[in-house]
Amino acid sequence: MNSKILKSGHIKLYKRENSKFWQMKIKLPKQKAIRSSSGTKILKEAEKIALNNYSLLNKENKIKIKKTLNNIFKKMHLVETADLNKKEIEFILDEAQKFISFNKMKIKKNNLLEGRTIFNLFFEDSTRTRTSFEVAAKRLGADLINVAVKDSSINKGETLLDTMTTINSMNPDVLIIRHPDEGISKKISMNVDACVINAGDGSHEHPTQALLDALTIKNRFKNFNKLLIAICGDILHSRVARSNIIILSKLGAKINVIGPKEWLPKNIKKLPVTVFTDMKKGLKNCDIVMMLRIQKERIVGKIMPNQKTYFNKYGLDYNKLKYAKENAFVMHPGPMNRGFEIDSKLADDVTRSLIQEQVAMGVAIRMACLVILTKNRDNVLKS
Ligand code: NCD
Repeated sequence: MNSKILKSGHIKLYKRENSKFWQMKIKLPKQKAIRSSSGTKILKEAEKIALNNYSLLNKENKIKIKKTLNNIFKKMHLVETADLNKKEIEFILDEAQKFISFNKMKIKKNNLLEGRTIFNLFFEDSTRTRTSFEVAAKRLGADLINVAVKDSSINKGETLLDTMTTINSMNPDVLIIRHPDEGISKKISMNVDACVINAGDGSHEHPTQALLDALTIKNRFKNFNKLLIAICGDILHSRVARSNIIILSKLGAKINVIGPKEWLPKNIKKLPVTVFTDMKKGLKNCDIVMMLRIQKERIVGKIMPNQKTYFNKYGLDYNKLKYAKENAFVMHPGPMNRGFEIDSKLADDVTRSLIQEQVAMGVAIRMACLVILTKNRDNVLKS
């Protein structure tokens, strides 16, 4: 067979036995070789055509590789929503979407994280988030260890970082941390080899809650650009509010925050929100009303409002919901102070309330985060 190599391993010209035309074989990195006829019998012309085709395909290939790389969230920790850009948020939501139907199957078990060790380290009370991570890890086949922090060496005077170093020596794959100190997950992530997920650090951030809220909203509305979302109540002490403001605004939604003056953070104007102290004005035209739990444990040494007075002004009931759009939905991260920030009947009304759906989305989001982060860690360890 008559043949000529133009670029070693990349372009080859050759003639088949019964053909007078030059054939081209073009091979790009990470792509299958493409074979086609040059359409000419003259070698010089065939060379020109092959080189031209090669450079066109190469350009296309580079764009393709860049696109997929941009789409992938490559970090191995999830500690702050500020670390996430819009594409990364959308990528996590898309990955979580795959687990929604999986979680409705009869057998809810796969082996994506088989053999991995995950620690739930909760230094603050939690039922919902802790069990949600536990269910997520177990459905992925991982071994999850719940460290009962009240029984841990922390009580024997061991510092938190010492405890983390000890756990780190057991070669965990993921540490899920809830702690009253702001920024603690970030600190820990810089001192351990495992992936770190912030499951709530004081009044600072709660990224997986905001992601699961975004997924709940996405499944109802598809497009965030046209949405007006009200976040109401104890904004000052709420990590849920902070993470949601960042995530939902990055996705394109407009946000109103509504609450009593003393519960609005000083820097609220620096955030991408419109601020209201009046429910009637703040709820106008809203598609979603996200209520927050009054963080009693963080309101120490300050005056707690009277329940009835607070409910009349800021508690969400059917009457106040009428200020929002006609079919507006209600959300709440739980646990709820029924009759304080939200009317009990409204909270349980499945035609208006997405609260139970939020819990279901929580498992899907946490499964996606566990899979993505461990995969990213594997890639970091490989390189
Ligand atoms: C939130 C939390 O703990 O930050 N709840 C939760 O994660 N399910 C909201 C709250 O406690 O107010």
